[in-house]
Amino acid sequence: MELTAIVKAAFEKAFPEGDFSGVRVVPATDPKFGDYQCNDALKCAKQFKMNPRQAAQKVVENLDTACFEKVEIAGPGFLNLTVSPAWLNGQLATLSAQPKCGIPQSGAGKKIVIDYSSPNAAKQMHIGHIRSTVIGNAIDRIFRALGYDVIADNHLGDWGTQFGILIKGYRELLSQEERDNLSVPYLEKCYVLSAAKAKEEDGVWKEACKQELVKLQQGDPENLALWKKFIDISINEFNRMYDKLGVKFDTYRGESYYNDTMPGIVARLQEMGLAVESEGAQVVNLEEEKLGVAIVRKSDGGYNYTTSDLACVEMRVKEYDPERIIYVTDARQQLHFKQWFNIAGKMGVTAKLVHVPFGLMSFQGKAISTREGNLIKLDELLAEAQRRSFEIVKDRGGDETLAAQIGIGAVKYTDLSHDPITDIDFSWDKALALEGNSGPYLQYAYARVCSLLEKVEGVNVDELKAFDVVTPQEKRLALQLLEFPGAVVRAAEAYKPSVLADYLFQTAQLYSSFYQNSPILKSEETVRNARLKLCSLFGEVLKTGLNLLGIETPRHI
Ligand code: ARG
Repeated sequence: MELTAIVKAAFEKAFPEGDFSGVRVVPATDPKFGDYQCNDALKCAKQFKMNPRQAAQKVVENLDTACFEKVEIAGPGFLNLTVSPAWLNGQLATLSAQPKCGIPQSGAGKKIVIDYSSPNAAKQMHIGHIRSTVIGNAIDRIFRALGYDVIADNHLGDWGTQFGILIKGYRELLSQEERDNLSVPYLEKCYVLSAAKAKEEDGVWKEACKQELVKLQQGDPENLALWKKFIDISINEFNRMYDKLGVKFDTYRGESYYNDTMPGIVARLQEMGLAVESEGAQVVNLEEEKLGVAIVRKSDGGYNYTTSDLACVEMRVKEYDPERIIYVTDARQQLHFKQWFNIAGKMGVTAKLVHVPFGLMSFQGKAISTREGNLIKLDELLAEAQRRSFEIVKDRGGDETLAAQIGIGAVKYTDLSHDPITDIDFSWDKALALEGNSGPYLQYAYARVCSLLEKVEGVNVDELKAFDVVTPQEKRLALQLLEFPGAVVRAAEAYKPSVLADYLFQTAQLYSSFYQNSPILKSEETVRNARLKLCSLFGEVLKTGLNLLGIETPRHI
């Protein structure tokens, strides 16, 4: 930010021999301390063994004060900065003229892979899948907005023992009609029936499933064709959900894609002395790093999740050469990621590997569990969201499209407004509340600003020249709007879309207090026009921010 550069220059002038790369100017915690503050004079005083207030004084003496109305030294040496209206108006003009509301293009020329959603094939997506999909997609959008070249990769669970069970079940437990009209629900039914039979005591069915798996692994054309059919049907079904959610992937490389390279990974680990035999299995001991032991080949010769992720990372590095790979999964997989990130580092992977773990989602106070059969299908959840939203919008003439935008926005925002790592309880009342920290609240705020701007006859807001911030409410809102690019950067740095959601909610609240205190259409022309400019910039920031969260912004609600 420009202010940081100005204050940093003052430090450098005052203390030419110091290193001030860490100097920060941040928004004041309380408006009574000014607009911004800088606390670095304290550190500087320590470095130069002087009284902190004196150090601050020396900085102030060297400060280019053109953009400040007031500069104060407070307490033990804090700098409290109040900016001048001219500076503020200029900054607002710059921000509103920039594309994407000033989001810096710090990712230009950098490539990253984001691995998210990644459901297991042949199963319907349920409410548990929503977090990886929605959080991953928001991170994806945020990084793209920062100029990164993002490869969104859906790492489907499309390989493993379940396919032996499925193939056997498909052949013998589904009716001809079910086979002819194969769908994910039929596949699910087929799996449940076949897996139950595999538990029978004589072990005959289980063995037969295993044989089907072995045939598949050896490339038997019939089994391979069936497997392909199951995967295609699953991807089609997933895509139906992704379309509803507005989520797009660049590739769908499932675990199967890396299958052939797994033996090579274990061989390399053995050569490097990292993998050793233990009770017939190949394991990597990570006790020294306090990460336990990771199995890379089971005693029956099969490979597992760790091996598959190692094979996958090598391929991604080779093919894309990304600077970073981000994995979005539930927090229960934390140890898995810590283990294989560690092993990958030892194998020479230098790309930064990041795991973004998220907590559990319960539904209206009840834990979601497969065992108790209270899994809510994602499809049903989204349909319910749309149904409930329709009840809200229909009286205002809203249609199904609008209901979907609001309903799905509400579901997404519930998730994204919480720090990913926290457990959340989904409740319809909270998700769809028109007041408070909810998706519909922000969507309404946007629609209201749009209708306000449409109401001003004969005025094209884009052509209005000057911002003119006068009242305290205008100033609070203006300062907050200037923080938008910073909020996007912080959300990306922390891998937390919730940082951006918090920012947008606070901004909407400041807008609302500005709006309540500042007549717009009834004010005289210059005041009205300046306020309209602020409203318009607020609308742009809100729209851009919501879209980064994957939330649509209808203009009319
Ligand atoms: N399929 C896994 C699951 O459903 C998630 C995969 C995440 N990505 C990865 N590269 N491990 O839990």
